[in-house]
Amino acid sequence: MWTYWNPVRISFGPGGFDQVAGQLGGRRYLLVTYPDGFAAELGARVAAEAGAPVLVIDDIAPNPDLAALERQMQRVMALETPPDVILALGGGSVIDSAKVFAAAARDGLAAVVAHLRDRPDAARFDPLPIIAVPTTAGTGSEVTSWATVWDSAAGRKYSLSLPGLYPETAIVDPALMMSKPRDLTVSTGLDAFSHALESLWNHHATPVSRLYAVAAAREILTVLPALASDLGNPDLRSRMAQAALFAGIAFSGTRTAIAHSISYPITLSHGVIHGIACSFTLPAIARSLEGIGGPVAEAIEAALGAPPGPAAAARLERFLHRLDVSTLPGDYGIDPQGMQDMVRDAFDGERGQNFIGQRTALLESLKTMA
Ligand SMILES: NC(=O)c1ccc[n+]([C@@H]2O[C@H](COP(=O)([O-])OP(=O)(O)OC[C@H]3O[C@@H](n4cnc5c(N)ncnc54)[C@H](O)[C@@H]3O)[C@@H](O)[C@H]2O)c1
Ligand SMILES: [Fe+2]
Repeated sequence: MWTYWNPVRISFGPGGFDQVAGQLGGRRYLLVTYPDGFAAELGARVAAEAGAPVLVIDDIAPNPDLAALERQMQRVMALETPPDVILALGGGSVIDSAKVFAAAARDGLAAVVAHLRDRPDAARFDPLPIIAVPTTAGTGSEVTSWATVWDSAAGRKYSLSLPGLYPETAIVDPALMMSKPRDLTVSTGLDAFSHALESLWNHHATPVSRLYAVAAAREILTVLPALASDLGNPDLRSRMAQAALFAGIAFSGTRTAIAHSISYPITLSHGVIHGIACSFTLPAIARSLEGIGGPVAEAIEAALGAPPGPAAAARLERFLHRLDVSTLPGDYGIDPQGMQDMVRDAFDGERGQNFIGQRTALLESLKTMA
């Protein structure tokens, strides 16, 4: 028996950005975006058609931090009347921040912070609707019901996870991604690739999530290396955007697993960008699953062209090396003992528990990466 549910209306294709004003439908909106000229220009295009937003929060920095979010939430709470809808125009950091504001606008800053820190019952939250327009391909946050919040002061990562946080609409316009430089294209593309594989080696995988994950992983294996050396190619951008969206649809039903669980302390204490932190361990993880069999093994073989084990690991290593991404923990400043400790702990994390593999097998597999 399995269940799959994802209520996001998705609109995909170059030029889709022109639909934003129509989707706002005359509602009073809060615009959440980055502090740069590109974001301002896109915001102005929406305002020309839909009127000015009731508030703009345009100081979103990468990896939204709780301290900054608390200050930004106060600006939302200061509005006399809450907005009707939030327009998130940017990558995962913008969409995730918008989700935090969506929950805070109706339920208050204190409730959101308490939920993040202590995880009380989520039932009372009634977030504002969100229109998500991603500019990276990417996090898949436009089709998931959770947001990652970082707390650098406490050295922790939280998740705001509420059924009401699925965006109302995702408008995925690959033309907005043309300006991504190579490093950002590669790291965000690898984040999507990791989402696809993480949803496969996952206790919550379903036939639906597998279909999307296999399609996404196969496409990214081909498209990302080509795109990395042809950044201005609109067809490759479009294919990468659709593959990242498919990976998002896959893991919206499963959440991530061990690679993401390992990645959070690596990002927090070694400053490694999310997309790299959650993907350089993929070969070791694939190797550790040697001999599992069943639908997971079939799906991994369909995705990678090799069954879980050394052949899948070699395929993944070639792919990462072609993108100039090292698979050696030492290259990220992590010594072998530190890596073993992090992986041991990662199995106890929420995402780690989604992983179908074994701790001892992964610890052994990682030793071959030293
Ligand atoms: N909610 C989820 O399901 C989910 C999943 C994975 C990751 N995340 C989170 O998302 C965040 C990462 O998001 P991200 O990888 O999309 O990047 P990001 O939003 O952090 O942006 C990174 C940088 O890219 C720039 N940028 C964005 N779009 C651009 C474009 N089109 N052209 C040029 N520059 C552009 C931004 O200005 C910023 O400086 C992390 O906090 C991560 O934890 C969330
Ligand atoms: Fe991710």
